[in-house]
Amino acid sequence: MAGSAWTSALCKWESPDYEPSLPVSEKSNPLTCDIDRASAESIVKMLHRCDVQMFQEESEGTYQRLLSDQVVKTLAEVAKRAELILKDPQDSLVVLSGCGTSGRLAFLIAARFNRALRQLKQNPVYSYIIAGGDRALLSSQEAPEDDPKLGMLSLKKVCEGKKRVLFVGISCGLSAPFVAGQLDFCLQHPEVYTPVLIGFNPAHQARDEAMPGCTFTFHSVVQRMQEHANAFLINPAVGPEAISGSSRMKGGSATKILLEVVLSAAQAAAFSRTPVTCNGIVQHIGAHKRTVDVTYSECEGIAALVEAAGRSLQGGGCVCYLGWGSLAVLSLMDASECNPTFGADYEDVRGFISGGYAELNINEGSLTSLGPDFCIAHEDFLHLLLPRLTDKDTVLLIYTHCDDVGDVLKLARRVREKMVNLHAFYHQADGDTSAALQQVSIHQSLFLYIYVSIYRSVYVFFLLQDDINKLCLSTLNITWPAAAMPFCRQNRTLSSVSVPQQWELSTKLVLNAVSTGAHILKGKIYQNHMIDVQVTNSKLYRRATRLLQRLSGRPGPQCEEALLKAIYQVEELTGDIPSCDITTHTHKARSRTKVVPAALVCLLTGCSLVEAESHLKQRPIIREAVEELL
Ligand code: F6P
Repeated sequence: MAGSAWTSALCKWESPDYEPSLPVSEKSNPLTCDIDRASAESIVKMLHRCDVQMFQEESEGTYQRLLSDQVVKTLAEVAKRAELILKDPQDSLVVLSGCGTSGRLAFLIAARFNRALRQLKQNPVYSYIIAGGDRALLSSQEAPEDDPKLGMLSLKKVCEGKKRVLFVGISCGLSAPFVAGQLDFCLQHPEVYTPVLIGFNPAHQARDEAMPGCTFTFHSVVQRMQEHANAFLINPAVGPEAISGSSRMKGGSATKILLEVVLSAAQAAAFSRTPVTCNGIVQHIGAHKRTVDVTYSECEGIAALVEAAGRSLQGGGCVCYLGWGSLAVLSLMDASECNPTFGADYEDVRGFISGGYAELNINEGSLTSLGPDFCIAHEDFLHLLLPRLTDKDTVLLIYTHCDDVGDVLKLARRVREKMVNLHAFYHQADGDTSAALQQVSIHQSLFLYIYVSIYRSVYVFFLLQDDINKLCLSTLNITWPAAAMPFCRQNRTLSSVSVPQQWELSTKLVLNAVSTGAHILKGKIYQNHMIDVQVTNSKLYRRATRLLQRLSGRPGPQCEEALLKAIYQVEELTGDIPSCDITTHTHKARSRTKVVPAALVCLLTGCSLVEAESHLKQRPIIREAVEELL
């Protein structure tokens, strides 16, 4: 796309007449309207442009953005609330909560900031809640998202006996009933709870749909929060997702950025006498912007991974992520999201973590008893998966130079004994030796000893890495220039938090690109819409109906009827089906596949459901099956 065309596509979504009935989080992104026909490299470039929209400045009359004054001010205020809790943690808690990706990020961040507190010899104060419990960290559990009472009860349980709670509810679309129930509860108990809401739609676009057993809607909760002096709303617009509604992408990245900015500022203020300032917050957001740019500067390397993963999925193979440390957690997250997002089978994209559940350290402990899809250690990969892998599958090693690279090499060798399609993705900091030495303030004679040790370990790393490179078909190495991390260099106390933050965000972007790009290449996307979306909760049900309307041009009620026929697998809607509530429909849809494509074929051709299903069987590439009819 030429420069000016690109600039106008960049801002087009902000125009009031662009898809006016949809909230920002559900709009389609003009930058990606033909992503379904793009090459791997073009896909990565489009994703980069979409991610850049996160940091776009607010212009007059448009939505507030990440760097808007009001957003930065609110972030600083929330950071100060967290600081108070960190300084006086007795009977206090900071709770991060959400559904799907939002809940997974709540876990990731709570775990990391608790770890940082333990390093400072402080007690942990962060807790996480994810709708559906810990199994939702590793698999798709969409139904609990619709339950406001469940949200409220799980919050009450976590906060039992606490006198002061900073509650951060995350719902990218300002839509999840689970989170609305929690916020409502906080508003009813202001003596204990300070509610904060993170999402990426303007307040008036919050979902205004009745919820089971409630007198409030998400929208009315947001309104009450706006009127409340002790409630905070952090809702910059970050632009529509590259794949419409896929809030795991920008929504997830922006959530991660916001939580890290707030909690890092609070931690620095509480323990290293660095007061929370708006300027500090702006600088920290700027560091994340540089992370995005540094990551996508490796466009070719990312595209090679997209292509490999795409080939595997196209050929009926699978993609396995083998990760270390927190990057492995991101790989588990990315893999778990493929099922609801692309209607993928859980075996299509899988993640494994070195150290398994001991490393993951979740509330409910090991979940292996739930079945093979919850076996997540590298040993599980070696026993359960590797024997079945062939060259049509893809294995990706994900680590940093700080991890046990000897262990990476060992695993790489085991994989190569079985198949060739092995790739590596690792992070490394430029000038790492001097960065490490900056942390050391000791006697001079020890200095030389440490200097030599660090150089030796860097040397060993390069030797091991060289061996890994020889075993891999491609290696994506992101080397972080010192200038990309001024925040960590200027402020020693934060460096242990900030460097992993950069690596994690970068890893999230790359893995989102790999899994999204691979599914695009597999033909799961039409234009920039996911056609084979799972209809497993009310938000997805509404999205599916809208998509049918958009693609078929038929009125809403007719589309809903076609969707229900596909869900219940009937040619006519008889009995009580039409009068059942959405919960019943979405419950039924859990066991069904390809309901939206089947409904669409029926709408476009007027054929029966049986004929539509047979049409789809003959053309397994959904995009081609749909295009043929449009
Ligand atoms: O229900 C599906 C889903 O869209 C997930 O993919 C997403 O992570 C989750 O809902 C939460 O959405 P939100 O953050 O908008 O509440």
